[in-house]
Amino acid sequence: MINLISKLPLVGDTIFNEMSTLAREHRAINLGQGFPDYQPPDGLIQAVCNAMQEGPNQYAPMEGIPALRGAIADKVQGQHGRAYDANTEITVTSGATEALMSSILALVHPGDDVLLIDPAYDLYAPAITLAGGTPQRVALRTSTKPHSGFLLDWTAVEDALTKKTRLIVLNFPHNPTGLTLKEADLDALEQIVARHDMLLLSDEAYEHIVFDGDTHRSPVSRQILAERCVLISSFGKTFHATGWKVGYCCAPEKISREIRKVHQYTVYSVNTAVQAGIATYLKTEASLGALSGFYQKKRDRLVEGLNQTVLRPLHSEGTFFLLVDTRALGKHQEKTLALRILQECGVATIPVSAFYANPQAAEANHQLLRLCFAKQDSTLDSAVERLQSLKAC
Ligand SMILES: Cc1ncc(COP(=O)(O)O)c(C=O)c1O
Repeated sequence: MINLISKLPLVGDTIFNEMSTLAREHRAINLGQGFPDYQPPDGLIQAVCNAMQEGPNQYAPMEGIPALRGAIADKVQGQHGRAYDANTEITVTSGATEALMSSILALVHPGDDVLLIDPAYDLYAPAITLAGGTPQRVALRTSTKPHSGFLLDWTAVEDALTKKTRLIVLNFPHNPTGLTLKEADLDALEQIVARHDMLLLSDEAYEHIVFDGDTHRSPVSRQILAERCVLISSFGKTFHATGWKVGYCCAPEKISREIRKVHQYTVYSVNTAVQAGIATYLKTEASLGALSGFYQKKRDRLVEGLNQTVLRPLHSEGTFFLLVDTRALGKHQEKTLALRILQECGVATIPVSAFYANPQAAEANHQLLRLCFAKQDSTLDSAVERLQSLKAC
């Protein structure tokens, strides 16, 4: 008999996989897992096809092809005024997922505490555990304003820090709440790092999706934060190509060097043709500024539709998610509600409780579900039509 001791005894199938599997079984409309039901831009597909035909099709350099690292450096400089050395400070990764895992494994040591802000994307805590660290959690404050969801409370964040806190994981625009960072948040963060010596991991997978004329603010736009920050993003989210799994991380050379050590023994390098295609597309055709408008129309369409149902949409400032308040359906665990809506209406959603350490806990259940609006208008309309059958109790 093999004596197998799990390194992640509490981890099961992710809620995203679980709901997507159920959605397929029930032939439901999947507004759960965050992926578009439309194609990446034609110009990008063409650029990848060209790159594949012309080659090279062998291993890319471990840190990413120079053309893509150069294009990322230009992009980040244009967005945040921060210059990263494409040779030593930018690494192309297998999605934001691998960038997050490699960074956490490289930077967190046994005995370190790592602060997560709940609700938190599900990868962070298991990655910290694998690195031998301890995830600590501080919750976003629920807002008292009607129809707005959560607020950042920097005093609570600072109070949650311990002497052992090595890293804070940030994720703005925020999955699942859609919250974005304001200048005042960066001010508060600057003050915190001036008092506490630690690193920042900024998961900016939804950096190009910010609504209502606002803009994405990254910690790397501030010198004192950039010095200790790993910026991570995902071309999957930006280019409607989640299946290609290409992302990147930018960090000062000393930090990048450590991340690359893990990256090279995890994936070594990333799909060469897709990197070349993205590099060409970024330099020639990409209109990243149009993405927010594209998704804002979808957000507004879904909100308008949901207003015809018993579900109450909360305001989303960014990402391609919004939350709905399900209180009209009675008080239940969020997962129970998500399963009920899947079975009764044929619409898959994600319980927000899944983004907390204990999804069954009262503090994790705000009667909120996350809906993804990275879907064709017809998909959103069909989902709303189905949700209209829900009756208040
Ligand atoms: C907050 C956040 N970070 C990272 C990822 C993973 O991105 P990728 O698909 O590029 O690995 C996701 C995907 O859903 C996400 O929502």
